Amino acid sequence: MPWVPLQGAELPARFLGANACASSGCHGGGGPHQNQFLVWSVKDFHSRRPFATLGSARSHQIGETLQIAEPARDPRCTTCHAPLTEVPDARRGPGLQATEGISCESCHGAAEGWLRTHTRSDLTRADRTAAGLRDLKNLYVRANTCAACHQVVSRELLQAGHPELQFELDGQSVAEPAHWETRTSAPPAQVWFVGQAVALREMSWQLQSEPGKDAKLAARWGALVWLLQKLDGLQPKLPTLAKIPLQPTPEALRLAQVTADALARMGAELAWNDGLTREALARLAHSASDFSGLAEPGEAAARRAERLVLALDRLLGAHNSTAEAPLNLLFRQAQSIPDFAPAPFAATLQQLAEALARQP
Ligand code: HEC
Ligand code: HEC
Ligand code: HEC
Repeated sequence: MPWVPLQGAELPARFLGANACASSGCHGGGGPHQNQFLVWSVKDFHSRRPFATLGSARSHQIGETLQIAEPARDPRCTTCHAPLTEVPDARRGPGLQATEGISCESCHGAAEGWLRTHTRSDLTRADRTAAGLRDLKNLYVRANTCAACHQVVSRELLQAGHPELQFELDGQSVAEPAHWETRTSAPPAQVWFVGQAVALREMSWQLQSEPGKDAKLAARWGALVWLLQKLDGLQPKLPTLAKIPLQPTPEALRLAQVTADALARMGAELAWNDGLTREALARLAHSASDFSGLAEPGEAAARRAERLVLALDRLLGAHNSTAEAPLNLLFRQAQSIPDFAPAPFAATLQQLAEALARQP
């Protein structure tokens, strides 16, 4: 260090576009270690679909409500669906096109500062990060990268008909066609855990930043606090959420935002093992009494169930378990928020806990 003298012109780095990564000797080849461009451009929904979506009938409907004539040109939409549109002129390389959608640099960082050096074997991971290449192997960094577009969508957009977003790092990472070596990926349960903590931080921020009551978001927030409180003390070093009330008072939101961020940072650094996954699963599976005790159905309980079922699904997958029948029933029972009935859900949850206890 430093391997290239800083001359000012390099900073801030320019975005160069996916083609800059796509030569056949780099990431545009056909082999398993060089096919990233191919996987992204052919299979990954980030490459063309997000931009194309802005031209759809549904987008125009959303746009009409918000008085947006052309969603593909409005920053309220392009910020997530075509982020390269927002890059200022001074930072645009010659080949850059907004139609690339969510491109290599949207996740990995503007390439100018690291393009020529990132393959040098004498550089460390820290050197590359310092040059602007995001360390996506770090789960905290990765979760923040994805959550930037996958959790917070403004109430205004939701009311205009935009789909509700629910960030879940593990499921969404698996759903993205991998252009990386999965053999060295972090344990799925840990990926899930860090993602949930980041989702809570983002929701806490949103509830603080948007004035007025939002009952739906408040219920979703309370459900996630409830879920993560079940995992308090999973590992003694992690901060706990025990003091956070399930009602989003200003104080509760401030505390949740800070604690969730610390939880995500520290969760990403843990040496996760199967024991932690088993313990997390057992605690969540033994939460039937939190539902059977409820006299009234209501949105709060339904949102808990919704979060819980997705969590059990990820953790069971991670644990290679076969409690399939009760899990499928839980999915059906949690499917409709207005029709949610706590008692039968609690009974199935009890069955699931018993099935798990019978397993070796
Ligand atoms: C710059 C914004 C942005 C970033 C960063 C981003 N995404 Fe996306 N992602 C989108 C948009 C927008 C869509 C929706 C595409 C469409 O249907 O138009 C999407 C779609 C997806 C889908 C498909 C959703 C579905 O149900 O069909 C998955 C899975 C996904 N992203 C995972 C990830 C993961 C994992 C990361 C982080 C490594 C990530 N995304 C980072 C914006 C982003
Ligand atoms: C905070 C980031 C963000 C913003 C801002 C945003 N979107 Fe999205 N949008 C997403 C993501 C992520 C998805 C994918 C949801 C999923 O499938 O899980 C999505 C999905 C959609 C879909 C559904 C796609 C389908 O499957 O048919 C439409 C339509 C859409 N967005 C239009 C818009 C329009 C129009 C705007 C601007 C008014 C906008 N979006 C702003 C992130 C965003
Ligand atoms: C939606 C976000 C996203 C986009 C877009 C994206 N990547 Fe990635 N990429 C990731 C993540 C996350 C990882 C690390 C995953 C892991 O290690 O588990 C990764 C890993 C990689 C790796 C390391 C491979 C390995 O096995 O360690 C390379 C090389 C790479 N990406 C190149 C590219 C190129 C080239 C493009 C564009 C053609 C691209 N990426 C687009 C998110 C993205």
